[in-house]
Amino acid sequence: MIEETNLLLSVPTGLLQISEGLTPSVNTGSKGILLSLVIPTYKERDNIENVIKILTQMLDESIPGDYELIVVDDDSPDRTWEVAQSLIAEYPQLQVMRRQQERGLSSAVIRGWQVARGHILGVIDGDLQHPPEVLMQLLSAIEQGADLAVASRHVDGGGVSSWSVVRRFLSRGAQVLGLIVLPGVLGRVSDPMSGYFMVRRACVAGATLNPIGYKILLEVIGRGKVREIAEVGYVFCERTEGESKVTWKQYVDYLHHLLRLRLSTGILHGFPIGRFLRFGLVGLSGVFVDMTVLYLLSDDSTLHLPLTRSKIIAGEIAIFNNFLWNDAWTFADVSMQQQEWRQRLKRFLKFNIICLAGLVLNVLLLNLVYNFLISNRYIANLIAIAIATIWNFWVNLKLSWRVTEVK
Ligand code: GDD
Ligand code: MN
Repeated sequence: MIEETNLLLSVPTGLLQISEGLTPSVNTGSKGILLSLVIPTYKERDNIENVIKILTQMLDESIPGDYELIVVDDDSPDRTWEVAQSLIAEYPQLQVMRRQQERGLSSAVIRGWQVARGHILGVIDGDLQHPPEVLMQLLSAIEQGADLAVASRHVDGGGVSSWSVVRRFLSRGAQVLGLIVLPGVLGRVSDPMSGYFMVRRACVAGATLNPIGYKILLEVIGRGKVREIAEVGYVFCERTEGESKVTWKQYVDYLHHLLRLRLSTGILHGFPIGRFLRFGLVGLSGVFVDMTVLYLLSDDSTLHLPLTRSKIIAGEIAIFNNFLWNDAWTFADVSMQQQEWRQRLKRFLKFNIICLAGLVLNVLLLNLVYNFLISNRYIANLIAIAIATIWNFWVNLKLSWRVTEVK
């Protein structure tokens, strides 16, 4: 017979919406506390007791009685929920939810937030890979005015313990893709993949969240009303028990999630038309420079150098010309914040690589349009240049001249 105190939380159903008001506590009936920390678990039987113990020790010291821990387990085959449930008697601030109809890290966190009583909603992994001591820094960032405080691996003090090159590449690659598809969301933080953060309830209350997969932070930034963001560096630790549940499915879910958020936040949402026009004008100056240098190097009446060599030199000089104008004019507001010569050199190299990729795209599109759509090479070239210019603009905006809004 399970005593009254060890009851599992009932699982919310319907829309993934967090209420403005605070849910009275199942155990004490009291309203409102400072922090509700959700711990999503799947097959964490060997970790969960340690996690609860360490979190309790730390939070009892700093905010005794003003927090709750909510384990949300997706009916783990190793019965993690049952181990957590057996701890409730010893840890009164612990509550446990066992989901049997739904699965998924992101929706688990939201279901936990739906039954939470805290003014601040947080999430931490249930495998001790997110160092608990960072919690207090996140909490103080919120109390100092931030709406969202993210534990980031990509700021000073951040890092990953010993991820394989493949995992690092996949994680960074996913971030770059997200910056291109959904810059208004991923561009606001340095570690959009983080699963370790706190957010003011008021910033996510009322929004109908619709996440898929692992990236709950994208949903909070994409659909919440988050103004100020703070970041705290942390080192993602090695697991001691169990293993990561990240598979290819999470990467597919991630793409699906990006596109869903992109469509729901509007295709041209925040497209900087003015900046794009300046970029186009600079591009025109580059065409002029390219043509002039090509003439001076390869024409019969000038140096008469071989055409390909002349074109490569002309193209590179045009790219340099475009970089100078874009850095000083098109993106001046951004480059002013990053004046160091190393930063400027890094921007030039990124710009160069992106423009060379743009050149390849241009040539491919020219052939595609000319051979399959329009047999006039000049119209086909214009279409190819227009598409390559949008590519050059968008990717440079998101990767070369990018500043996160973190204070
Ligand atoms: N309820 C529930 N349902 N929990 C889940 C599920 C699920 O389907 N899948 C994973 N979890 C829990 C795990 O038990 C663990 O506590 C946490 O979510 C993270 O899962 P891992 O499988 O350990 O992910 P990871 O360590 O590779 O990556 C984590 O850290 C990254 C950096 O913060 C995840 O949180 C990533 O989202 C995050 O980017
Ligand atoms: Mn993990």
